Amino acid sequence: MLVSTRRIGLSLGADLCWPTCYEEILSRFDPSFEIDGETIGFEVARLDIEPFDLRRPCPYDVVLDRVTHWYHTSREWIKKSILMDGLYVLNNPWSIQSMEKQTTYCAMMHLGLPIPETWMLPPKEYEPTPDLETTLERYAKLFDLGEIGNQIGYPHFMKPYDGGAWVAVTRIATEEALREAYDKSGRRVMHLQQAIEPFDLFVRCLGIGPEVRFIRYDPDAPLHARYRMDRDFLTKEEERLLRDITLTINAYFGWDFNSCEVIRKDGVFYPIDFANACPDAQVTSLHYHFPWLVKTMLQWSLYCAATKRKMRTNLDWNLYEEIRNKTGDYHERVAAYGALARDRFDAEAFDTFREQHLKPLDEITWDYFGTPRAKEVIREKVATLFPEHEHDEFTDLFWTQIQDWRAHENP
Ligand SMILES: Nc1ncnc2c1ncn2[C@@H]1O[C@H](COP(=O)(O)OP(=O)(O)O)[C@@H](O)[C@H]1O
Ligand SMILES: [Mg+2]
Repeated sequence: MLVSTRRIGLSLGADLCWPTCYEEILSRFDPSFEIDGETIGFEVARLDIEPFDLRRPCPYDVVLDRVTHWYHTSREWIKKSILMDGLYVLNNPWSIQSMEKQTTYCAMMHLGLPIPETWMLPPKEYEPTPDLETTLERYAKLFDLGEIGNQIGYPHFMKPYDGGAWVAVTRIATEEALREAYDKSGRRVMHLQQAIEPFDLFVRCLGIGPEVRFIRYDPDAPLHARYRMDRDFLTKEEERLLRDITLTINAYFGWDFNSCEVIRKDGVFYPIDFANACPDAQVTSLHYHFPWLVKTMLQWSLYCAATKRKMRTNLDWNLYEEIRNKTGDYHERVAAYGALARDRFDAEAFDTFREQHLKPLDEITWDYFGTPRAKEVIREKVATLFPEHEHDEFTDLFWTQIQDWRAHENP
């Protein structure tokens, strides 16, 4: 007998492909099992945007959110629901709202990760405000941009301190180019960051709860080919290090779903961009890796909903600080951060839960991604991004790549 239904809400924007696959696979699975003497089932629904009474209870146990970083009504509804109704959400919305790339660099430099040398610059131009001129006249020091450029060295990257999606990112090779880029940067607050070049490996580490997938990345390829399909390109030791780094970042900021970009040069992995809460989840970028994303989203959200996982409203950074202060060796320290992060993500309990209750999901996901319906979903997504004469070609390409995943994952 069904005693309790857990409700999962999807807070979506333009997302098309993964939510549909998520819903359809969940409907095929239709799990129901007993936890602590209670039989539970699951429902999923998409959130509407509408006026809300702050005291109206939230009907969801878990929300998978994709719009907090730019759609503020949804963000505020989510924050209210965490505070008033015990909602669990991927990701912590206060942390998304306040932790820019800049803060993530500082925090991880402080913990001892090899973040490349990075400077922040005051903006080139300002929105006029009443006190602006006095403030700048009194306190803004003249500086020599060329000198800063020389200190960081060439090439380096100029990029917004709060950036995303490659907007306003420039690779700078000369002082002249630096001055030109700064002149063009307008009102943006910019970083200059030492370039990790030449590198021999670029990896995107995609984290969902305690799980991490390592994806080889080619930043110079066209959009649809940046995520590569290489397998076994990391040693076990490298995987452990990157998993620890990614989970440390994600647990530190309360981000259940985030990606960490790392570049390897001379055997050292440099994290360069890891404030990516709600990373790209489109089949047209992830293709081969897309079924993993959908399945892991399902696993983690079902776990959170079933166990009524509590949202951590306090990030409690002191424990990282303690590790930092007592562990000198870099690899030992990162392993200790990683252990703490895994603990915060209930890694062991999650593994047991998956083993006990979610086993059928492997085969259901595998089957689903071989159906004409899955191909249709890919086509719908392709149709929103590619010109009509390319619809067949790209649908077939992504479909074939997903069939490669099926060949490798055959349950
Ligand atoms: N320090 C760096 N060394 C080498 N390449 C970099 C560096 N910083 C940025 N890049 C390149 O520029 C791209 C965009 O920069 P990134 O910091 O990831 O910004 P965004 O947040 O917009 O994704 C990266 O994916 C990488 O290809
Ligand atoms: Mg990036």
